[in-house]
Amino acid sequence: MNKILIILLFWTLQLSAQTPIHIIPEPSSLQKGMGDFILTRDTKISIINPNAEVRRVAQFFIEMVNLPTGYKLSTAENIKFHSSKSINFILDEKMLAAPDQYTLNVTTKFIDIKAHSPQGMFYAVQTLMQLLPKQIENNTFQKTIWKIPAVNITDAPRYDWRGIMLDVSRHFFPKEYIKKFIDQLARLKFNTFHWHLTDDQGWRIEIKSYPKLTSVGAWRVQRTGKWWEREPAKEGEERSYGGFYTQEDIREIVKYAQDRYISILPEVDVPGHSLAILAAYPEFSCGGGKFEVNAGVKFYKDVENTLCPSNEQVYVFLDKVFGEISQLFPHPYIHIGGDEAYKGYWEKSAECQALMKREGLKTQEELQSYFVKRVEKIVQSKGKRLIGWDEILEGGLAPNATVMSWRGMKGGIAAAKQNHQVVMSPWEYVYLDLYQGDPNVEPVTYGMARLKKAYSFEPTPKGVEEKLILGGQGNLWTESVPTTRHLEYMLYPRILAISETLWSLKEKKNWQSFTQKLETHFARLDEAKLNYALSMYDAIVRTEKDAAGKIKIELSTEVDGMDIYYTFDGTNPDNYSPKYRGQMLEIPKSATTLKVITYQNNKPKGKQITLTMKDLQDRVGRYKIEFFQKCL
Ligand code: ACM
Repeated sequence: MNKILIILLFWTLQLSAQTPIHIIPEPSSLQKGMGDFILTRDTKISIINPNAEVRRVAQFFIEMVNLPTGYKLSTAENIKFHSSKSINFILDEKMLAAPDQYTLNVTTKFIDIKAHSPQGMFYAVQTLMQLLPKQIENNTFQKTIWKIPAVNITDAPRYDWRGIMLDVSRHFFPKEYIKKFIDQLARLKFNTFHWHLTDDQGWRIEIKSYPKLTSVGAWRVQRTGKWWEREPAKEGEERSYGGFYTQEDIREIVKYAQDRYISILPEVDVPGHSLAILAAYPEFSCGGGKFEVNAGVKFYKDVENTLCPSNEQVYVFLDKVFGEISQLFPHPYIHIGGDEAYKGYWEKSAECQALMKREGLKTQEELQSYFVKRVEKIVQSKGKRLIGWDEILEGGLAPNATVMSWRGMKGGIAAAKQNHQVVMSPWEYVYLDLYQGDPNVEPVTYGMARLKKAYSFEPTPKGVEEKLILGGQGNLWTESVPTTRHLEYMLYPRILAISETLWSLKEKKNWQSFTQKLETHFARLDEAKLNYALSMYDAIVRTEKDAAGKIKIELSTEVDGMDIYYTFDGTNPDNYSPKYRGQMLEIPKSATTLKVITYQNNKPKGKQITLTMKDLQDRVGRYKIEFFQKCL
C-alpha cells in the first residue's frame, strides 16, 4: 500500500472516531458503537413484514437520500435473514411500547429500524438522516462518503401534542412553501401543524358557501414598514396583496402532511380578529358599515373587528364554514381562536344587550362565553372537538373545550383544574415572533423570548393532573415576518429547542450540550439552505440604576464559555479591548456609546451591539422588553 493511501485511511478512521452524534431532539437512550455503516448505491432497503404504509416510509427514506447521494436504492421484501449491507425496516407489532417508539441499531454490516408502528419507523428515519453527514441535507449531488456511525438508539416521544403554529393571515405563504414548512416540522418529529388561517389581515381558505371570504377577504393594499404604523388604504387603491388556498390546495397539503405523520389543526379566529370576514360580509358586525382588510394599520377600538353574537346569521355562517372545514381536515379538533376580542361594539348594540337580558348574562365575558358555547355545539355537530386560546376561560368554559394557553401558563393551569385538556404555548417561552436577541441588532418586533428561555420551557406545571397536559406548541405570528427567509430566521434555532422540550425526556435535556449540538445543526441548515439566527452568541446588555441614580451595566451571554469585550470610546471592540469580568460597569464621563462584542476561543462570535447613552437609559428596568398585546 502506498504511503498516501495509508495516511488517507488513518485520517478517515480518525475522522470517524471524532464525528460527534448530535441528534435533536435528544433520544431517550443512545449507545455509541464501533465503526460506521457506509451507505452505497448497493445498499438494500429490506422490508420485513411489508405493508403499504411501511413501504411508503421506506420509500420516503429512499427519496430523501436520492438527490444528495445520486443513489436510487432498491427494496427487497421478506428476506428472513439480514443480508449484509441492508437497512431493515422491521414492523414489530409485539413491541410493548408507546405506538411511536422505535429502535435504531446501526452496525458496520446492517441497520435495523424496528418500531411498533410505521409512524415510529418514520421517526427512526428522521434520526437516521441526522446520523448521515451534513451533505445529506443538500438537494444537489454531493461527493462524500455516506458514513453512518454505529449506534444503538431507543426512543419515544414525551408528549402526544408537539405543535408549531404558523400565521398565514398577516402574510400569506404559498402552498409550495407550506409543504417545505411541513418538511421542516417532520425533521424535528413534530406531529401537529396549527394553521392560523384567518385574521384581520386576510382570510386564507376557500369556503364555497361564502365566496367573498376569499374574493374580498384575502386581499389588501400593499404596504411595507412597521406593523401598526402603516398608512390606511386609499379610495380606489388596488387590493392585490394577499392570496388564499383553494380547497384543492388544502386537500393536497393535508395529504402531504399526513404522509409525514403531521396532522393539521385549522384555526378560524372568531369572534375577534374578524375584520377580513367583515370586509366581505359587513352584515356579521354589530354596527354595520364598510370594512377594509387591514394592512398593518393601527385600528384598535376605532374599527369593529368582532362578529356580532346576537346575530343568528353569524351562527348560520359558522355552521357552514366549520362544515366545510371539517370535511377538509381530519384533525379531531377545530381551533376557533377566541383571543383578544374587543367587546365595545357588543356593549353598544341593543340586540346584544337584549340577548344578555334574555339569557341572564351579566358581563360581556359571559356573552363571549355564550358565543363560544354555541360555536362548540356547531363544531361538535361536525364530529369535531373545540380548542381555543385561553380567553375562552373568561365567562365560563364551554363544556368540552380544550384550552391553548398563551398568556403564560396560568390559563392552562386554570383549565386543567377544571378538568379540561390543555396545550401549553406561553408567549414568554415559545412565541417565535418575539425578539431572540438585542432589539438594536434584530429585525423589529416586540417582546423577548431568547433561545435559552425557549429551551427552559416545561409544559407540565406542578400540581396539575399530568395527563391533562396534552403537550405544547411554538407559535409563529407573522405581523413582522413578510418573507420565508425571515420566517426561517425566527424559527431557527428556537424550533430546535421546542422540539427537544416536547419530544425528549425531561432528564435528557441539557442546555450546554444542546448549544454544542446546535453548531452541528447550523452546518446542516446551511446545506439545506435554510436561514437561522445566531443571536444566541450576542451579548445581553442589562442596565439598572443604583441608589444614587447612576446607571450600572451588566453584560452576560446565553452560551457558556464566551468572552465579552467592550468600549466606551466609539472604537469597535475586539479581544484587545477591555474584557468584561463580571463586575457591573459604570459609564465613564463624556462617553457617547457602549459597543460590545463576544468572542469564543479567541475568535469573534456574536454581532457587535452599539448602544447610545439614551439606549442604555431607556432600558433601565426593562431589559426583558415587556410584552404588549399585539392589537392593544
Ligand atoms: C394570541 O397571541 N393572540 C393568541
